[in-house]
Amino acid sequence: MNQNYPQKIGILGGGQLGRMLLQAAANYVVETYVLENDEHCPAAHLCHHFVKGNIRDFDTVYHFGKNLDAITIEIEDVNIDALDKLQSEGVRVYPHPSAIRTIKNKITQKQFYKEKEIPTAAFVITENKAALAQQAAFLPAVHKIGEGGYDGKGVQVIKSEGEFDKGFDAPSVLEKMVNMDKEIAVIVAVNDKKETAIYPSAQMIFDPYLNLLDYQLSPADLPQQVLWKAEAIALKVAKELNSPGLFAVELFIDKNGDVLVNETAPRVHNSGHHTIEANYCSQYDMLWRIMLQYPLGNTDPILPSAIVNLLGAEGHSGNAFYEGLDDILKLENAFVHLYGKVQTKPGRKMGHVTIMHRDKTELVYLSNKIKHTLKVVTKGS
Ligand SMILES: Nc1ncnc2c1ncn2[C@@H]1O[C@H](COP(=O)(O)OP(=O)(O)O)[C@@H](O)[C@H]1O
Ligand SMILES: [Mg+2]
Repeated sequence: MNQNYPQKIGILGGGQLGRMLLQAAANYVVETYVLENDEHCPAAHLCHHFVKGNIRDFDTVYHFGKNLDAITIEIEDVNIDALDKLQSEGVRVYPHPSAIRTIKNKITQKQFYKEKEIPTAAFVITENKAALAQQAAFLPAVHKIGEGGYDGKGVQVIKSEGEFDKGFDAPSVLEKMVNMDKEIAVIVAVNDKKETAIYPSAQMIFDPYLNLLDYQLSPADLPQQVLWKAEAIALKVAKELNSPGLFAVELFIDKNGDVLVNETAPRVHNSGHHTIEANYCSQYDMLWRIMLQYPLGNTDPILPSAIVNLLGAEGHSGNAFYEGLDDILKLENAFVHLYGKVQTKPGRKMGHVTIMHRDKTELVYLSNKIKHTLKVVTKGS
């Protein structure tokens, strides 16, 4: 068991989630380490020690972690065997490698929900395209690649037999299409003592073209009974994963008011960006409290909020320029987060804006205004 003071804590991955986690670390006595291949990544300049290396490589992750007190992830695609070894040698791993292993592959993740009787859409497993073609009776459905998909790229809607060709020729989950009313996410925090704290639900609204989160409202506008169900299910997911850490549970509410788990992220999550300004304790602060073994924080909202994602505009690839930034910075209670990525490309997550307002209709109006004013383009265009 390592016992440094200040504690040495490492993050696998150096994207924007790592960057925002490090912003919160500045309030604590902690020495931070980041492992990431790209030395210009969003988190590279906010940590005490940047280590260039592959988070998927056993030796690299093991050597990065062996002198740390604790380690966490900002992406699931890491070398879990190395985390197992680190954990067996006394490094605290948040979340436990076993929880990352269950979640990392969408097949084992869905089997976990089924086994634990956690409500989720019915599914079959398809090993390849030929096996998928046998599933005409299961349509309409959504095909999800087991491993390697991210930001909507590993998901294909298959409505009829003629669309089988869109499916994946690799082990995947074929999931019944849900007659969707709303999508929400619930973040649950669990500490070493198994105490929990739960954030108010956030309601997600998607761009039908990019399949990426478009904007999000929090707290979600849903009947109290549905919210209770969602919270109970999210807590059950966290409990059954049997690990400390932060878990973002994405849920579907169907047209009957039934609540189904879509997927879980065992880490800080896009659906919790707003908690930086809009909740007393942000999801990032919460994860430090968990890792540093401090009491859990207060998840209450200060004001209702919305998140607008800043995605690279279509037709623009190159050095990023933020058109309309002045107008947004003038808005009352708008908080701009740019992730420090030099290069933009269509659909790339370049930043987000959180907006807070007492009135939810006003939030929707402001979200649309931000979306249409602030554009990530290339300079000189
Ligand atoms: N069974 C389903 N029925 C209807 N829509 C779905 C279903 N599964 C996924 N989707 C839609 O596709 C989106 C992306 O799927 P998800 O499994 O969350 O993949 P990702 O890993 O890309 O986030 C969901 O947020 C939802 O809008
Ligand atoms: Mg998702």
